This record gives sequence, structure tokens and C-alpha cells, in this order.
Amino acid sequence: MSQSIDHLASEEARQFAPSPDFAATAIAGAELYEAAARDREGFWADQSRELLTWAKPFTQVLDWSNPPFAKWFDDGELNVAYNCLDRHVEAGLGDRVAFHFEGEPGDTRTITYASLTEEVKRVANVLSGWGIERGDRVAIYMPMIPEAITAVLAVARLGAAHSVVFGGFSSDSLRSRIDDAGAKLVITADGGYRKGRATALKPAVDQALADRGSGEQASVERVLVVRRTGQDVDWNDERDVWWHDVVPQASAEHTAESFPAENPLFILYTSGTTGNPKGILHTSGGYLTQAAFTHKNIFDLHPETDVYWCTADIGWITGHSYAVYGPLANGATQVLYEGTPEHPEPGRWWDIIEKYGVSIFYTAPTAVRSFMKQGREIPQKRDLSSLRLLGSVGEPINPEAWMWFRDVIGAGVTPIVDTWWQTETGAIMISALPGVTTLKPGSAQVPQPGIAIDVVDDKGEPVGNDAGGLLVATEPWPSMLRGIWGDPERFVDTYWKMFADKGFYFAGDGARRDEDGDIWLLGRVDDVMNVSGHRLSTAEIESALVAHEATAEAAVVGASDEMTGEAVVAFVILKESFLKQHGAEGLAEQLRLWVGQQIGPIARPRDVFIVSELPKTRSGKIMRRLLRDVAEGREVGDTQTLADTMVMSTIAKQVK
Ligand code: PRX
Repeated sequence: MSQSIDHLASEEARQFAPSPDFAATAIAGAELYEAAARDREGFWADQSRELLTWAKPFTQVLDWSNPPFAKWFDDGELNVAYNCLDRHVEAGLGDRVAFHFEGEPGDTRTITYASLTEEVKRVANVLSGWGIERGDRVAIYMPMIPEAITAVLAVARLGAAHSVVFGGFSSDSLRSRIDDAGAKLVITADGGYRKGRATALKPAVDQALADRGSGEQASVERVLVVRRTGQDVDWNDERDVWWHDVVPQASAEHTAESFPAENPLFILYTSGTTGNPKGILHTSGGYLTQAAFTHKNIFDLHPETDVYWCTADIGWITGHSYAVYGPLANGATQVLYEGTPEHPEPGRWWDIIEKYGVSIFYTAPTAVRSFMKQGREIPQKRDLSSLRLLGSVGEPINPEAWMWFRDVIGAGVTPIVDTWWQTETGAIMISALPGVTTLKPGSAQVPQPGIAIDVVDDKGEPVGNDAGGLLVATEPWPSMLRGIWGDPERFVDTYWKMFADKGFYFAGDGARRDEDGDIWLLGRVDDVMNVSGHRLSTAEIESALVAHEATAEAAVVGASDEMTGEAVVAFVILKESFLKQHGAEGLAEQLRLWVGQQIGPIARPRDVFIVSELPKTRSGKIMRRLLRDVAEGREVGDTQTLADTMVMSTIAKQVK
């Protein structure tokens, strides 16, 4: 950690104040901080009333009488989909483009607020005809096509909760998420286009719903299937329904009912420190308030003129808050792109920016680093002059990548907002405000107006400026998670136990404040890895590895990696019996692929090392720190607490 602090400290010389031109038209000014400092809850109440349309106005703001279970705007009622759709149409903005959709093969669709509203109403009618209502859960497993957005909004419109599962996850991952949430319906597609090929999705759904032991029954009653690629699919007549057979015929009249502010909006699973993913629960009024507020102010959204593009998949929280709820609540015009940045050639994203005149572009450092590697000639062949603001999310952006992003993509002038937040926080917590904050490449910078963040030591005492510690939220915030689905105890243990006496939320990130008070993120302090901005748990990958017949024991670490931030590195001990029968030939590669099948390709280890022992303390705890040293090719650190101090030299030899 100290190494990164030194490196970061040397970056403090580079600073970029907002240009007078940008500041002159910026949506957010310093007065937001002043208002929030005067009366934090009053500030959020004002924002919520201004940004959203409440069917029944709230009179209470925050109810923190039973911490850590927060309620925001509890006695108010609203319909989230109405806020994202109907009200814009009612305001005469029906012809405004909601999405410029671009499929990977090059097919395009222009979707206005009026047509999106109509389509959502039809789907809502289909779903409610099947008995989907408030209190139900619907799993969504889709490519990045307009129907994915429609599905999410139709579920929200009915007051049910969606659980979007990233299309890159395996059938096992999908199954455990369907089961944990008790989903009644799955919405999917035959497949989607990625890297120039039609990738199947429906077979994973079939498999997730099949192969159950006797007596074990899936909660799922129906599967609604969009035809995207036209590939062959297996069909279960009692369960499966084509989207095109029911949606176009359904009525486009549907009145949005209002639901309480704390009605569940969605569950989104994310990796934690133990094997099974946590179902992070978000509710309606507070979530939408903060998603809309941050989207408008941090991205400086001028909805009449801006074209905004967030490249995140809808399977992640960034896709939820900044490709669906925040932008649509604000009436933004967005780009929605189905495929990968390299198809059919590396400049595809820049083509899209040029074609649609994208002015606000929000992406991840891992993407920026891969573009850097390809070279500036590729973006420089395109006209990117429409861009006026860039955003980054998911992991720390290294200062070199920040500078490249600004110079090459942002013509050396666009502000970059580096936004820190989490699945759990629901919306951005730390970021610059582009018309106000003096930017420092590599720092996420300052808590947003109305957000209380600190860096503390392990007793919860603030470390002050120019020091490092743990990142916490010291006050509840509107879009905070309301719990872990079905597991209140785990919710309390994971986030609130660490600083129980102070009532702080423990984010799991290390951070440092510089002498100006700006915040620099230093990565996770727990067993969670961040690979290309995706969260992966060491425990989850370890349990996938030991589920293989060859494996006796496994230990996984995140090793630093130039391209992906961190990379998964696994150390595996094989079963004697397996070794005798089959030998170890080709097994490392097999295990890599196995993890990909079990969890999804993003979890595939970069390296699998077959070893004969693992470094353990006398109490049997694996010392990952030492394995990380090996994985990163460093001198192995202090081994004194190991039960057997020779283990590391054996491992080092085996890894070579
Ligand atoms: O470690 C932090 C890192 O990503 C984690 C949250 O991951 P997830 O819930 O998947 O959400 C990612 C998108 C919001 C955090 O605990 N992280 C996220 N954004 C940043 C970041 N680290 C540094 N800088 C960021 N801007």
C-alpha cells in the first residue's frame, strides 16, 4: 500500500481547475454543498421533490430509528417507471429520443420516450396478466438490447422487483440467483451478439431451471423470450413464451399505480467475502432520488442537447443507475450499444461517439487502458469533438490513463469525473462536480453534496488529511442498500459490525486523504478482487475450484495486473487419488476453463498453479499475502507466522 501512496502523492502536482466556459453553463454550483451543509435531510427532501414526481408527497425524510435499517421518504408514494417515462411524455417530450440503439452487427433503432413508454405498458400488461404484482421477483438475463430496458421498467412499473443477472454469468450462477430470490418469471433472449458471433443465452436459462433433485422445484412459472439472433432454441411449451407472440398484441394502455417509497425496486447480486453472492436490495424513492441527482449534477446533464453514453452492461449496478434509472428519470437521450468495443474493429466505440454526437461518455479504467494499448491513432481517426465530459467508474483510474483519456479522447480539455461508489451505495458517493472541483488525475476527490464520507482508523477515528485508513459513510444516504435479500444478519455483519459503536457503514475500501482533503482510493481491504472493474470473491472462486473432482484444496488471490487492475491467480493442491489415476497434464488449463463454466468467463483465473502445499498459519488460516507475493513475482514477505516456514520456498519452486 505504501508504494501506491507514494506514487499517488507525487501526482498531486497536476491539477485542472474548471474552465470558465464550462463553469458558466454548469448545472451544479458550490451552492449545493452549502445547502446540504445547512440541512442535510432538508437538502435531500428538496432534491427529491424537485427531481421526482410523487403521487403522494412524503412528509418524513429519514427514519433511522432502527439502524442500520433505513427508511427514506417513507410515507410518500410514487411509481418509478412513471417517473422515468410517462411524465416526460405528459410534459410534451414524447418525441425526444430515449435511446439510440446500436446492435453489434450494425442494426439500429431509434427509441423515443413515447415509444418506450408504450412498449413498457404493453409488457406490463403481459406480466400482470400472468399474475406478476407487487412483492414478486422477476429475473432478467438479457443482452444489451432495448428489450432489456423495457423489461426492467415493466417490472418496476408493476411494483415487483427485478433481479438482473449479467448475461456473461453461467447457468449455475443464474440458478443460484433465481433460487435465492424465488423469481416467478425469467425474461431472456435466444442470444445476443458479442465479438461478431451470436452467443446463446436461452440454454443457460433452460439448464438453470432443469436438473433439480427430487422434490426441489424452481419458483419460475414462465420464461419470456426475446428473439434477437434467431438461433435455434429448445422450447418448453408449458413454460416458454416468445416476446413477439404476446407483447405487440397487448394493450398499450396501462395506468401506473403508485407504491410506497420503500417498496423493493431490485435485487442485484454481488460478490462478498464468502462463497455465495449477496443479493443487494434497493428500494424506490431514495434510490431514484440519488440516482437522478448524481446523474444530473455530476454529468452536468443538459437533457435538451446532450447525448449521454454509459458503456456499462445492465447486469451491473452502473447499468442500473446510470444507463436506466438516473438518465431516464432526468429525460436524457442515451446511446445503447450491444456488443464489444473491438467489433468489427478496435475503433467501434469512437465510431458510435461520432455517429450519435455523444457529449457525455461514462466508462471504466480497464477500457481506457486497453485503448491506450491500441494506440491513439485509432481514436484520432474519428471526430470526437462532440464530447464535453468524461466519466470513470469501477476501480481507481491510474493517473496515466486519466491523462490519456483527457488528452486523446477529451481533446485535452474535457473534465473527467472519477466516480467512486458500489452496488451497495446504489449511486455515486464520491466524485468531482465538473463545474466546481479542481480535478486531480487519480483521485476520486470529494463526497457529493448531502453525502457524509470519512477515512478512519480501525477504531473509527478520522485519520485527517494527509493520512490513510478505511473508507466509511458516517451518515445514511438515500440510495443506500436496505439489506441483503433474505439475510438481515449478514447485512449487519458485513457492513455495520466493524464500526458498530459509531454507526458507520464500512465500505471495504482503503483510502487516503491528501493535504487538501481529496480522497484517493487504494483498493479493497477484504478478500474481494477487482478485475476489470468487476467484483469477484476469492472464496467464490475457491469453492468453484474445489468443486472440481481433481482439487483437494485451493487458494485464490488478486495479483496486480497492468491491463485488468487485478488478475485472478489460483494455487491448487490436487487429490492424490486423482493424480495417481490421471496425472496433472493439462489440468491447470482445464481448471481455468472450469471456473469459467462454473461462474462465468470473467472469473477465469489468469494463472492456475498446481502446488503441493499452501502457506498456513498455526491456526490453519491461509496467508494470502504470501501467495500474492509469489503471484506478483516479488520477494516473499515475512513467513514467521507460518506453521511450516519452508512451504513458501517449495511453492516458489513449483510455480517456476
Ligand atoms: O473497490 C471499489 C471499486 O469497486 C468496488 C465496488 O464494486 P461494485 O459494487 O461492483 O460497483 C462498481 C461500480 C460502482 C468499490 O468497493 N470502485 C468503484 N469505483 C471506484 C472504485 N475504486 C476506485 N475508484 C473508483 N472510482
